[in-house]
Amino acid sequence: MNTHTLLSVVAADSRAAASPAPRPPLVNVDGIAKHYLLPGLGRSFSVKSVDGVSFAIGQGEVLGLVGESGCGKSTIARLLTRQTTPTSGRVTIADQEIANVKGEELKRLHRTVQLVFQDPFGALDPRMQVGTSMEAPLAQHGIGTRHERRQMVMHMLEEVGLDESFSERYPRQCSGGQLQRVVIGRALLLQPSFLICDEPTSALDASMRTQILNLLTDLKRRHGLTMLMISHDLRVVRHICDRIAVMYLGRIVEIADRDTLFEAPRHPYTRALIAASMLDQTGLYAPEIQLHGELPSPLNPPLGCHFHTRCAHAQAKCSQAEPEFEAASDTHQVRCHFWRELQPEEPAENGSAQNRRNRVN
Ligand SMILES: Nc1ncnc2c1ncn2[C@@H]1O[C@H](COP(=O)(O)OP(=O)(O)O)[C@@H](O)[C@H]1O
Ligand SMILES: [Mg+2]
Repeated sequence: MNTHTLLSVVAADSRAAASPAPRPPLVNVDGIAKHYLLPGLGRSFSVKSVDGVSFAIGQGEVLGLVGESGCGKSTIARLLTRQTTPTSGRVTIADQEIANVKGEELKRLHRTVQLVFQDPFGALDPRMQVGTSMEAPLAQHGIGTRHERRQMVMHMLEEVGLDESFSERYPRQCSGGQLQRVVIGRALLLQPSFLICDEPTSALDASMRTQILNLLTDLKRRHGLTMLMISHDLRVVRHICDRIAVMYLGRIVEIADRDTLFEAPRHPYTRALIAASMLDQTGLYAPEIQLHGELPSPLNPPLGCHFHTRCAHAQAKCSQAEPEFEAASDTHQVRCHFWRELQPEEPAENGSAQNRRNRVN
């Protein structure tokens, strides 16, 4: 069996993918929340890890989800894979509300939604050869004969840029980048209709990171994969994603197609994240939009706009009233009282006037 047939996931034109109105949505997340109750002295505390998040992902689309550590990204991944149940809201994948799925349908859901984590060493059994680890889920789902499964594994190793000899290696005989290729290949063998990558490159060094991102971009182009790409780093989502959602303390604060998000961001938090990622790359920065201080505790988020305690543009209203999620255009939504007053050109791409003024010598 050929891996290309194996991976005959909906073919999509990746050039057209920047369109933010998702093609027929495969994934619909509607007002989802996850609040954890923690026992405290005298009373319980509620951690609002995810607090009313909605988005859709079209067939063949890659949505990026970015935000600082602790803002609720992995909780969303767990909600989408039914590893945890929502406090409220619902998730629909391929027209099925996942909370209602049982029996054989649940088994199919576990096959069609695959998750790749940050740590490939933790994802593989150290006592098993890589080929055996890749084959195991195929056997669990009753796919192919033993011989066919071995063939599929060999094709997949090639597909993810490794040679067949890797099937006999143990995880300790591979680098982190090689193992992440194995983990991605193992997920793809099940022909998922939806792939979630949660910080897939965070445990890797810079050159491995680029290689894995190139691999994922290539797989997206070849197979039209529908993906949710989670990262704390905007640079990771920049090249692969069609649209990007920015999260802050359990909520989405801005969502737009990739080019709009980078060229005309409207939320001060998005602008700060862009400035921070450019600072690393170019040594250019705009101090008034840098991010200061720690993320506030989700146990006690600031009143009004959650971001106001770190926002250079905050005014009295920001600490008093929660901003609505407003449409800046048909394809762009933002949760900020003053988004109209923030000029899109200000945060800037490389070499903007703003950045040139603030060049670090
Ligand atoms: N099982 C849990 N019990 C209590 N709090 C949790 C649990 N899981 C996550 N949290 C809290 O929810 C918030 C979001 O966590 P997480 O989704 O892992 O964020 P991210 O992936 O963006 O770093 C954090 O404050 C975290 O401490
Ligand atoms: Mg996480």
